[in-house]
Amino acid sequence: MILVTGGAGFIGSHTCVALAQAGQPFLIFDNFSNSRRSVLDRLAQITGAPVPCVEGDVRDEALLARVLADHAITGVIHFAAFKAVGESVAQPLRYYDNNVAGTVALLRAMQAAGVRTLVFSSSATVYGDPASLPVREDFPTSATNPYGWSKLMMEQVLADVDASEPGQWRIARLRYFNPVGAHASGLIGEDPQDVPNNLAPYVAQVVAGWREALSVYGNDYPTSDGTGVRDYIHVCDLAEGHVAALRYLRAHPGLLTVNLGTGRPVSVLEMVRGFERASGRPVPYRIAPRRPGDVAACWADPSLAERLLGWRASRDLDSICTDAWRWQDGVARSLRG
Ligand code: WQD
Repeated sequence: MILVTGGAGFIGSHTCVALAQAGQPFLIFDNFSNSRRSVLDRLAQITGAPVPCVEGDVRDEALLARVLADHAITGVIHFAAFKAVGESVAQPLRYYDNNVAGTVALLRAMQAAGVRTLVFSSSATVYGDPASLPVREDFPTSATNPYGWSKLMMEQVLADVDASEPGQWRIARLRYFNPVGAHASGLIGEDPQDVPNNLAPYVAQVVAGWREALSVYGNDYPTSDGTGVRDYIHVCDLAEGHVAALRYLRAHPGLLTVNLGTGRPVSVLEMVRGFERASGRPVPYRIAPRRPGDVAACWADPSLAERLLGWRASRDLDSICTDAWRWQDGVARSLRG
């Protein structure tokens, strides 16, 4: 049984679908601080099976110990963390407590229960502003905000735990690029609790008429069209990468670190055009000043994950925008009643 912390969240819920499709039983552990309980019913609709879930906080070591023992957990996929860059700057202690202390509590409970297989949700944010592109796993890491530092600190905790018990742990640190899109059913997707910080959900809400226009944060970057360039990976490709990482860990003890990206650079305006094609509607936008902390461009060299995990992203930009729009349009209708 695989424990999925944060399994009711955006990437967590899509990973549960991929686990079900791979015939891998799972148990969700979530405190619903940034996700909705209704996701569980939708997951049951997609998988055709009940979705077991324990409500709890990853900092609750005693509860985690009980869950690990009661459910014969053999491995953990750890998504539960806060992830908003701007919020982390305003509330660093809340981020370090939830993200870093939460991971320490989880690892302590795992170690005590003899469960030493973990897939960790890391982020390309650990690369800071890369000196060259595409980004490889051996590039230097740094951070420019408490969210990014918390990811780096969690990566370091994992490396030190692995080194403390050589050959005992099986840990994969998966560095996500920009997760976007939604399950093709339209039943689950990215569901920001307030104004979206990220590009794709914001564009989707503009198309749905929830927002007036997109602010394009700068068009004077040294990129193809002057707007920011990123590596947008379909969340279902990302989810399948977690199943591939679990399979790899079963045969390879130690510490693995891989990029999960497409290797495909996409600009803000290219993403806008993708949503216009997917929805058949215009996306009004205005050019706004650059956003502090943004890098001009960042995209992955995904070759290590392909070589080691036998995994690569397969869904293209139009699939991303079509699936994201179907989810947004469905949510819009359901919220309108
Ligand atoms: C993408 C591009 C913006 C919004 C962040 C986190 C990262 C990860 C993913 C958690 C940039 C531009 C955006 C808008 C815009 N989060 N943009 N108008 O900044 O690459 O990564 O989210 O793991 O850790 O740092 O993603 O979607 O915010 O921005 O022009 O309203 O879209 O300038 O070029 P980012 P993003």
